[in-house]
Amino acid sequence: MAKILILNGAARKNGSTAKLIEAFTDDAKSSGNEVREFYLQDMNIKGCLGFEYCSKFAKDTSNACIQNDDMRLINEAFVSADVVVFASPVYFWTITGTLKTVADRLYAQLRSLGYNGFPRKSVLLMTAGGSDYSQAVRWYETFERNLGWEDLGEVLGAGKNRAAFDLGASIR
Ligand SMILES: Cc1cc2nc3c(=O)[nH]c(=O)nc-3n(C[C@H](O)[C@H](O)[C@H](O)COP(=O)(O)O)c2cc1C
Repeated sequence: MAKILILNGAARKNGSTAKLIEAFTDDAKSSGNEVREFYLQDMNIKGCLGFEYCSKFAKDTSNACIQNDDMRLINEAFVSADVVVFASPVYFWTITGTLKTVADRLYAQLRSLGYNGFPRKSVLLMTAGGSDYSQAVRWYETFERNLGWEDLGEVLGAGKNRAAFDLGASIR
């Protein structure tokens, strides 16, 4: 059984990204995994301040960021997660700003234990109006490769629910 953390960066609660997440989650849960999803749009998460409090002064590695906002809920889930799912529509050829803001804020956790301190597995779920996912995929693959994470799979496309079910079912 794996603990799966879903970071849902879509703006629309019932859009095509939500359907992809639902398909993934249904079979991930049927396979006995524990799934926790955060709908980021509804959360109060500010951008990274970039002044490196986390790397210079923080003593508490579970809450290394000086900002006291909803990122603390995600940090808490992230620390014990086995799998991190990045879910987003394509906005201007990449992931949404909402999801990128949260990825930036993970920096504090990653800095506090060192980039290799959180060897997670990861998944990318994306939808788009068109078919150009290349920049988003490059962002995702660069992120997980540099952090030493293991990519479990990418599902790209609003109609790819079967692939999302299968990917969810394959997680252990
Ligand atoms: C601000 C904005 C920017 C977008 N940029 C792109 C884009 O660059 N490429 C693309 O294929 N679709 C783009 N789209 C379309 C969305 O990716 C597409 O409608 C997606 O399925 C929406 O996901 P949702 O149903 O989960 O909200 C954009 C939509 C919005 C609102």
